[in-house]
Amino acid sequence: MSENIIELKNVVKSFGNVNAVDGISMTIKRGEVVGLIGDNGAGKSTLIKVLSGVHKPDGGEIYLRGQRVNNWNSARSRLSGIETVYQDRALAVQQSITRNIFMGREIVNRFGFVDTSKQYQEANRLMREIGFTSKVFDPDSPVATLSGGERQGVAIARALYFDADLIILDEPTTALSLTETNKVFSFIENVKARGRSILFIGHNIYHVYDIAERFIVLDRGRVILTLDKKDTPSAEYLIETMHDIARSGHTTSEVKA
Ligand SMILES: Nc1ncnc2c1ncn2[C@@H]1O[C@H](COP(=O)(O)OP(=O)(O)OP(=O)(O)O)[C@@H](O)[C@H]1O
Ligand SMILES: [Mg+2]
Repeated sequence: MSENIIELKNVVKSFGNVNAVDGISMTIKRGEVVGLIGDNGAGKSTLIKVLSGVHKPDGGEIYLRGQRVNNWNSARSRLSGIETVYQDRALAVQQSITRNIFMGREIVNRFGFVDTSKQYQEANRLMREIGFTSKVFDPDSPVATLSGGERQGVAIARALYFDADLIILDEPTTALSLTETNKVFSFIENVKARGRSILFIGHNIYHVYDIAERFIVLDRGRVILTLDKKDTPSAEYLIETMHDIARSGHTTSEVKA
């Protein structure tokens, strides 16, 4: 039996009279890569902010590893092993890779000083672990010297250092070239190989199709479709199925093609 990391039941979050998340139920299991898709304003960011505790839901239930949780907030979410990488605010680019990974959670020695050599070693290990292959890679280099895909890698390494079971990536490949996107995908594969789960939010359905094993499609705050990759022969099929359902007005995750 695969373990549920987190489960939402009928979660609701409104802003004034906008039902941004309008009764969403979903589950993320250990070690799976789930793709979350939907048009602008579908509720993707609101949903991940509920998962990461930034937004308190107005209704519904949240279960963490099978246990109902109350008073969910961002501190509890992080302590529970959920880390979110937001595209823009992720990194301090003038600072070193090492500083970015440990910022806010420095490794200190028994005198209370930051243990820079330990941090250097750990940064090196983490970056190799997610598949950093640059020959001249040095954890002391500023993040500004890295490519876009590698920067996402630093953010992912940081999440791994925090021992995240679930790493949420909001549009991690939007601004990236194909080569850079492939780097991010290989980092994700390595994270998955270590038994961690990924929730991948993307506009580009081809990217989401390539990386995810299961797709959740949102439309106006509701799940209109969930599909396993094995039932989804191509990205085009996914796109067509989404559009068919959106047109027909169904709003149930039970709908299958
Ligand atoms: N803090 C907020 N205050 C008021 N309305 C909000 C807030 N956040 C989101 N909304 C509204 O909720 C709806 C869902 O927005 P959300 O940002 O979750 O969509 P999204 O799927 O992430 O879209 P995008 O692809 O553009 O990022 C939109 O109508 C949006 O205007
Ligand atoms: Mg968004």
